[in-house]
Amino acid sequence: MTTDDVLTELRALQAGDLPTHGGATMAYVYDSGRAEIEEIAAAAQAAFQWTNALDPTAFPSVARIENDLVGAAVALLGGDAATVGTLTSGGTESCLLAVLAARERWRSRSGSPAAPGRPRLLLPVTAHAAFRKAAHLFDLEVVDVPVDPETCRAVPSAVAGLLDDRTALVVVSAPSYPHGVLDPVGEVAALAAATEVPCHVDACIGGWILPFLDDVPEPFDLSVPGVTSLSVDLHKYGYAPKGVSVLLTADPELRQDHWFATAGWPGYPVVNPTLAGTRPAGAMAAAWAVHRWLGTDGYRELARQAHDATRALATGIDAIGGLRVVGDPVSTLVAVAQDGPDGVDVLNLADEMTARGWLLQPQPPFAQDGGHMPATLHLTVTGATAGRVDALLADLAEAAVSAAALPRPVADADLVAAAATIDPAALTVAEVDALLELAGVGGGRLPERMASVHALVAALPRPVAERLLAGVLDLVYRPSREAAIG
Ligand SMILES: Cc1ncc(COP(=O)(O)O)c(C=O)c1O
Repeated sequence: MTTDDVLTELRALQAGDLPTHGGATMAYVYDSGRAEIEEIAAAAQAAFQWTNALDPTAFPSVARIENDLVGAAVALLGGDAATVGTLTSGGTESCLLAVLAARERWRSRSGSPAAPGRPRLLLPVTAHAAFRKAAHLFDLEVVDVPVDPETCRAVPSAVAGLLDDRTALVVVSAPSYPHGVLDPVGEVAALAAATEVPCHVDACIGGWILPFLDDVPEPFDLSVPGVTSLSVDLHKYGYAPKGVSVLLTADPELRQDHWFATAGWPGYPVVNPTLAGTRPAGAMAAAWAVHRWLGTDGYRELARQAHDATRALATGIDAIGGLRVVGDPVSTLVAVAQDGPDGVDVLNLADEMTARGWLLQPQPPFAQDGGHMPATLHLTVTGATAGRVDALLADLAEAAVSAAALPRPVADADLVAAAATIDPAALTVAEVDALLELAGVGGGRLPERMASVHALVAALPRPVAERLLAGVLDLVYRPSREAAIG
């Protein structure tokens, strides 16, 4: 095949994808709206696409790029002379490594890996799911910290009541992904410090935008006493391509706790600062180039633009009958909920907005000890959406009217009753496939209208829902039989 043929075929695969540009896809992607950023990122990525960041002594350029980016993060996020960091592949990996480091520290302090029981991870229920994955992988017990159901901020008095000598780490978000609100970082970090427990600030989504805003209500970074590590993603509001995040640790000892070294095999001596062995350098180089090109002033301008758009959006949404904005959106994320018992169902609203070309991400209702949290729609606002706020609000107002006319989505009662009797761990893949067929997502094909599927997921016992969700992906990922690549 010719180069053109191959690339034409490859691009054709994107026809069914959500648009990555234009600001209508309000999750997953971060479009600055500036073509120059894309150009410089692509050129930098291409220049480093064959480089292996596995060994920065073989490729000193990579060490320089990593040190420059970590240095920029230290300066931006309240670090001091002791602060060090590691570049990772993304927010999830940064969060995983923060938990791993804390677990290793806890083990070394508590004497033996076995006693006294499993280490605990204190997690506001709004903390990113990556921390639950970390607990699963590294064998920690998750202790849910309730959030205030109105403000959606973690409750410090609950943290105080849960801290004990088995606590390996407390997490706070700046801001949280679901609602875009800032946890009380100072209060929680002080409580953690008083019991000598590390405190991680997950600033994956806010860390490259909050420092550029003038009206952040309280400090949230490494300058806050008691904060021991912080994660921030360059592939979000650093406007770098996917695959680059920073994990900062307040001291070099804690960083060693998530590194791995072995001379215990006949191959090359291994030192891995992250979970990966071979590490792509392309996204790191692109992040470096974008940062160099934009500079602090460029980031400030983009941050202000997205933040102004967010405020306009929040005001406009509050003015639409039947909808309300949840909590105090501190950066560029907005969560929209039904306003009052007769308000607009937001799962129906999501479907209506999809039909109008927007992706607003549905978040199911959530039961927690601190009080019920309603279903919401999540909106990530970037520079690209800034120019479209009026169009978005107009579509939302219209979609709200249409959504209000629809029946409220309810889970099939028979299915929910049957699910209560199921042991999800005992289900085979074929049995899960059959259940998905009953649930209306047979073959892994999602229906155009998703409201009832979300309602069902929310109504199922969590372990059953999790097994079925994995079942959907199991159907999505099946090897191509008519091999396109032969
Ligand atoms: C606060 C927060 N933490 C962690 C993550 C996980 O990041 P990633 O998807 O890059 O793994 C996200 C992603 O949106 C996030 O918003």
